[in-house]
Amino acid sequence: MAGLTFFRTKKPEEIVKFYVEEVGMKIWLEQSGCTLLKHGNFLLGFCGSDDVDTQGVITFFYDDRSKVNEMYRRFQEVATTEPKSNERYRIYNFFAKDPEGRTMEFQTFLHPLEPYLDGVELLETRRSVRHYRDKAVPGELLVKLFETCRYSPTSKNTQSYYFIPVNDKDVQRSLASERGSSSSPIGNAPMAVAICSDPERSLRHVQDGVIAAYHFMLTAWAHGLGTCWIADMDRKSVKENLGIPKEHYVATVTPLGYPEGSPGTPRREEAEHFVKELT
Ligand SMILES: Cc1cc2nc3c(=O)[nH]c(=O)nc-3n(C[C@H](O)[C@H](O)[C@H](O)COP(=O)(O)O)c2cc1C
Repeated sequence: MAGLTFFRTKKPEEIVKFYVEEVGMKIWLEQSGCTLLKHGNFLLGFCGSDDVDTQGVITFFYDDRSKVNEMYRRFQEVATTEPKSNERYRIYNFFAKDPEGRTMEFQTFLHPLEPYLDGVELLETRRSVRHYRDKAVPGELLVKLFETCRYSPTSKNTQSYYFIPVNDKDVQRSLASERGSSSSPIGNAPMAVAICSDPERSLRHVQDGVIAAYHFMLTAWAHGLGTCWIADMDRKSVKENLGIPKEHYVATVTPLGYPEGSPGTPRREEAEHFVKELT
C-alpha cells in the first residue's frame, strides 16, 4: 500500500523548484500537468490549476533535532515559529510558509517510531554503528526484530540460523575484548546479539547464517537501531562464552542499540566499479 497527497498550484514551476531546491525533495514522477515529489516515503503532487490549495499542513520529519535546526536556518525568513519541543505530541518542530502560503512543518519525533523508511532508503542509509546511547533496547522491540527476521532466506528453506541475545555485561565485555579494537563496539552498546547457524540443519549453513545476520542488521536499522558486523567471531572462546556447540557457525556477534550521533557515510565507488562486463 502506498499513497500521495495532491495540491493545486497556480505557479507549478516555482513551487516545484521551491520544494526541490529549498526543501530537498526529489522529483519522483512527471505527469502531464502534475509533478510528484518524494521525501523519504512521503509523496506529494502539485498540479497546475487556476486555483490554489492551501489547507492542511505539509509535515517533513527528520531523525534528530540538528536536522530540524538546519532546516530552520534555511527557512528563518518564512518561519512563523521558532523550533521548540511540544510535550503534548512529543515532537520538536517549527512552522513556515511556502511561496503560495501553504503551512509547512519541520519536526523530529522525541520517541521511537514504527518503521517508516522505504526499501531503497533503508539500503542506502544503513551504517555500521560503533557508538551507542546509554539506553536499553525494549524487550518488545527485540521480539519485533526477531519476528521480521523469520523471513530471512535459507538454503532449501532449512531455517538453520538462530539468534542469541546477550544482556549479561560480563559476557558482553569478554566478547568485546576478543579482537581488540575490531570487536570493541560490542562493549559500547547496551546489548549484543550473536547470529549462528547449525550445520546439521543445512548444507549451506554458513550462507544461511550470514544472510540472517544481514537481515537482522537491516531490520534493526528500520527500527532506528544500530548494529555493526564484527568479523572472525566463529571461534572457540566465543562459543564457550555463549554456550554454542563447537560445530555450529557464528556468523557475527553484533552490538545492538540506539546510535550515538551520526556514523557518517563512508566513501563508496560508483556503481560501474561493481559491474563487470562479460568478455
Ligand atoms: C565481513 C565484514 C567484516 C567486518 N568486520 C568488522 C569488524 O570486525 N569491526 C568493525 O568495527 N567493523 C567491521 N565491519 C564493518 C565495515 O567496516 C563497514 O561495513 C564498512 O566500513 C562500510 O561502512 P558501513 O557499514 O557504515 O556502510 C565489517 C563488515 C563486513 C561486511
